Amino acid sequence: MTPEEQNKALDAWQTSARYWDKYRVLIAQMFAPLTSGLVEEARIGIGQEVLDIGGGSGEPSLTISCIVVPTGSVMYTDPVAGMVETAQAEAGRRGLTNIHFRQCSADDLPFADRTFDVAVSRLSAMFFVDPVAAVREALRVILWGPKEANPFFSTVTDVIDRFVEAPRQDPDAPDAFRFALPGKLAGILENADAKNVIERKLNFEIKAPISFEQFWQLRTEMSGTLREKMAKLAPAQLPTVKQAVADAARRYFASGTMSFPAEALIVSGRKSAA
Ligand SMILES: C[S@@+](CC[C@H](N)C(=O)[O-])C[C@H]1O[C@@H](n2cnc3c(N)ncnc32)[C@H](O)[C@@H]1O
Repeated sequence: MTPEEQNKALDAWQTSARYWDKYRVLIAQMFAPLTSGLVEEARIGIGQEVLDIGGGSGEPSLTISCIVVPTGSVMYTDPVAGMVETAQAEAGRRGLTNIHFRQCSADDLPFADRTFDVAVSRLSAMFFVDPVAAVREALRVILWGPKEANPFFSTVTDVIDRFVEAPRQDPDAPDAFRFALPGKLAGILENADAKNVIERKLNFEIKAPISFEQFWQLRTEMSGTLREKMAKLAPAQLPTVKQAVADAARRYFASGTMSFPAEALIVSGRKSAA
């Protein structure tokens, strides 16, 4: 990734920050099973010092800070100023005093050795510039399974890709499905000398009491990739694209509320004793 590409990716996250804040309640609801899986896998409990890498609008830091109280604390990190601001503001609104905030990238963590008991990352490892370097410091990570097993994403992108010519993508470029192939991120942990590397598939439902209309708005606002593709559509194409997505997504709104099957991989490893 060139420095220009890195800056462009971070600019897109900066634009996304206000939408991740706008949809924070839904995000917390939709991805709660991932946080639980992560807390369970990392065996997070009272008194631990936890590092969260790529914390976005605040999860899983906000949830974990309530688990490690009264003696433990969380260090939230994210390289994007807008994300740090919204997460910090939310912690303030909730009166949480055991989360600390630091704007930094996974590839260059400004902390001394052995500062934390455990490191977690929810849905962010796919965006690290140098995953091996990042994982050398991160002990636990979480990411999406294959796109086909995640219609929450594919119902929208598959339709839009029929209308917008997408450039062939490097399979190692930062992207939500970069580590969907089983064993890929586990291999990176092993290369980074993590021990006891375990990969677990987590099947869950992305559920929220919202309509297709709200889902469409949320997806097209929150994702930098989708915003870029939508900008390439002619205004006259929009109603057709939206209708095609609505048709593809109909069965996930059958109960009058949103429910998508989803698959993620939880990958964990331990730091060697040395
Ligand atoms: C999909 S969001 C996930 C946010 C949050 N953890 C959640 O699950 O709601 C990905 C996050 O990764 C962050 N990110 C992008 N590049 C990064 C990097 N090099 N190091 C750490 N985080 C990064 C983005 O700013 C964004 O907040």
